[in-house]
Amino acid sequence: MAKAIGVDIGGTGIKAGIVDLGRGTLESDRVRVPTPKGAAPSDVLTAVHEVLDTLGVRDSALPLGVAFPAIVKRGKTLSAANISQKWVDFDAEKFFEDELGRNITFVNDADAAGVAEVRHGAARDVEGLTILTTLGTGIGSAFLYNGVLVPNTELGHLNYGEHTSVEKWAATSARDREELSWTDWAARLQEFYAHIEFLFSPDLFVVGGGVSKNASDFLPLLELKTPIIPAIHRNNAGIIGAASLAAD
Ligand code: BGC
Repeated sequence: MAKAIGVDIGGTGIKAGIVDLGRGTLESDRVRVPTPKGAAPSDVLTAVHEVLDTLGVRDSALPLGVAFPAIVKRGKTLSAANISQKWVDFDAEKFFEDELGRNITFVNDADAAGVAEVRHGAARDVEGLTILTTLGTGIGSAFLYNGVLVPNTELGHLNYGEHTSVEKWAATSARDREELSWTDWAARLQEFYAHIEFLFSPDLFVVGGGVSKNASDFLPLLELKTPIIPAIHRNNAGIIGAASLAAD
C-alpha cells in the first residue's frame, strides 16, 4: 500500500498525518500544533519538526508534501496575504529540505485541497473544469481541468468593487469579524461566485474550508448555473492533497 506524509500549514494550526494514497484517507492520527505567533519560517520549521516527531516519521523515507497558504512556484513562496512577510520570495522548499535533510514537495494549500477532492472526493470523475474554493481566513482556489491541476490561481485576490482582495469581504473571517448572518454572507458569496462563473464557465464548484460543514446554511441560498457542492475532506484535504502531490 502506497503511503506518503502530508503537512498542512495554516494560519492557526499546523496539521499532519500519514496518508493511504490508494484510498485518500489518513491512516494515522491527525496531529496538530498551533501555528507559532508571527509564523516566521524558522518557527514554522520547528513546529513541523514537532508534528513529524509526534507522528514518528522524522526519519521516514516516505514522500513528504507540505501545503502552504501562499503562491508556491518551483518551491518558492511568492506571496504572504495572512502570514509573515518573510515568506515572500523565499526558497521555502530548499529551506525545509536543508533543515530536515530530505526531499519535500511544497504546494499551495488550496491546490492541495483541490487535488484531494479530485482524486478522492467531491470532484472525482468530473469532466471539464472544477473550481474548488476554500473559505477560511482567506479564500483559496484550485482549478482542475479533467483532473489536472492548473496551480496557483488566486481568486481570493480578485479586486471587487472597492475591495482590492475579495477575500477581505467574502471569506469566513469577514463573516466572523462583521458577525454576518448566513443570508448576508451568502449575498456576498453570490456576487463572488457569479463573477467567477462568468469569467471561467466552470462545470462544478466545490467549497472547502472549515465552514463547509455548515454548507446547508449557505449553499442553498446561492443562485448559480453551475452546481456548487461541499468538499468531502474538509480538515484533512490539505494533508491528503500535499501527500498525493509529493508522491507523484
Ligand atoms: C492566499 C492563498 C491561499 C488562501 C487560503 C490566500 O490569502 O493568497 O495562496 O491559498 O489564502 O489559505
